[in-house]
Amino acid sequence: MTHSSSEFPRPLAVITGASAGLGKVFARQLAERGFDLLLVARDAERLRVLSDELSLQYAIVAESWPADLSRDEGMRGLAEFLAKNERVMVLVNNAGFGTKGRLATRPVGEQATMIELHVMAPMLLTRAVLPGMIARREGHVITVASVASFTAAPGNANYCATKAYQRVFMEAVALELDGTGVRVQALCPGFTHTEFHGRADIDKGTIPGFLWLESERVVRESLDAAFGDGPVVVIPTKRYRMIVTALRHMPAWMRSVFQRRYSKARIEG
Ligand SMILES: NC(=O)c1ccc[n+]([C@@H]2O[C@H](COP(=O)([O-])OP(=O)(O)OC[C@H]3O[C@@H](n4cnc5c(N)ncnc54)[C@H](OP(=O)(O)O)[C@@H]3O)[C@@H](O)[C@H]2O)c1
Repeated sequence: MTHSSSEFPRPLAVITGASAGLGKVFARQLAERGFDLLLVARDAERLRVLSDELSLQYAIVAESWPADLSRDEGMRGLAEFLAKNERVMVLVNNAGFGTKGRLATRPVGEQATMIELHVMAPMLLTRAVLPGMIARREGHVITVASVASFTAAPGNANYCATKAYQRVFMEAVALELDGTGVRVQALCPGFTHTEFHGRADIDKGTIPGFLWLESERVVRESLDAAFGDGPVVVIPTKRYRMIVTALRHMPAWMRSVFQRRYSKARIEG
């Protein structure tokens, strides 16, 4: 793929974890907004089907980039390509997964993979696109963190820690980008209906209904904030903004009680 900027009239949006869940919805909504797409995930067939569908439906160019972004060659190969691509206007660092169970019981390789995918890959990809965006004085990087970034929950140790990295990383980079015309966002959704919990074998029934969000709404709030004058840290829905405010201000002992209560599905069963 060695397209020059003059070949294509539309800017490019790159979405990791685009084969399912929030990433797939980001792909659709960015296509609706007139972006060409580069869709990244491991499942090449799902990416191909989605690229074909969105290209046809929105008269854009959507292409697939199958890669395992937890592996060195996967993340570095994509980073090298993005660093040279002059059309990247949006990067969505979205690929991620959760696990269930206490750290001492989990395979160490799986936990290391999480750190590579949630920390090293977004750092390398963001570092790759920023110089070009700054030179062009426009661009957006959205990293999908989580409400979990404000917690430290049992059964979720590396997940909370890596999501906190993503949020703090975006907040600090946002300050570095003051006056450049480039904007970054840490999207912090609460529980959202996607494939996430099924893949991690987490029983969704243990989480109260009022806490569940639809992925279309989460993505819409993210993109409205990015292309409007929204904050760096985007927490979709008023309900979750109130929960995060409460979490940030309650005493540590009280936060531990809530974290234990809502982590049952991750440490039992
Ligand atoms: N759902 C929630 O409740 C929730 C809440 C807050 C934050 N989040 C965050 O939202 C993001 C998206 O998750 P989701 O809920 O949409 O889950 P999902 O439906 O399971 O989708 C996860 C996506 O990540 C991709 N992915 C996983 N491992 C990968 C790897 N090694 N390399 C490349 N791509 C990989 C998957 O594609 P392949 O399997 O094809 O690679 C898939 O496209 C994650 O960062 C998650 O932490 C989710």
